[in-house]
Amino acid sequence: MSSASLRLKPAIITNKYSISDADLESRGFHLRRTADELNLDQLNTVFVSVGFPRRDPEKIKLALDNTNSLLWIQHERTRKPVAFARATGDGVFNAIIWDVVVDPSFQGIGLGKAVMERLLDELVEQGIVNIALYSEPRVLGFYRPLGFVADPDGIRGMVYSRKNRNRNKK
Ligand SMILES: CC(C)(COP(=O)(O)OP(=O)(O)OC[C@H]1O[C@@H](n2cnc3c(N)ncnc32)[C@H](O)[C@@H]1OP(=O)(O)O)[C@@H](O)C(=O)NCCC(=O)NCCS
Repeated sequence: MSSASLRLKPAIITNKYSISDADLESRGFHLRRTADELNLDQLNTVFVSVGFPRRDPEKIKLALDNTNSLLWIQHERTRKPVAFARATGDGVFNAIIWDVVVDPSFQGIGLGKAVMERLLDELVEQGIVNIALYSEPRVLGFYRPLGFVADPDGIRGMVYSRKNRNRNKK
């Protein structure tokens, strides 16, 4: 994951979704806004299938408990998660979006966009103006049309690096 951070220009957001809830349902995809029916082992499998490291399910559960907004899509036939995104934050000023994934077998049919549009709507409706995420370079083109800009006004994202800290101390 690159450390390029992005911030949202709220003016770009509209309430129109590229795929309506009804369209998703008719295609056999159910939108879920809580983790109640989410099988964490299956979610982990989706993470691994896109190259994220497999994580301890207990830690995933704790992370989801501490997550302000999450949205996932359940495949009607298998009941498995096929798309997922979540946001953490202070509930007032700031939110960061994490773990945006679509099962490779279901990529390219609008599910990633469907999840992101709704998650962003939810955050904007809460009045949150600073919505950020980390993007791998190859995914910048997915986020831009959703309203994200890289390095807005020259502001650069930085992440804490133990390795660099130790190097700088020497
Ligand atoms: C990135 C990802 C979430 C996109 O989900 P998806 O369901 O395949 O994307 P969608 O079908 O919703 O695509 C929506 C639009 O974004 C475009 N798009 C999708 N992936 C893109 C990419 N990597 N680069 C540029 N544009 C992209 C599509 O062409 C489509 O354009 P359109 O609206 O003009 O038709 C998905 O490919 C994925 O899970 N990738 C692996 C994990 C990952 O990299 N996550 C992001 C971590 S930073």
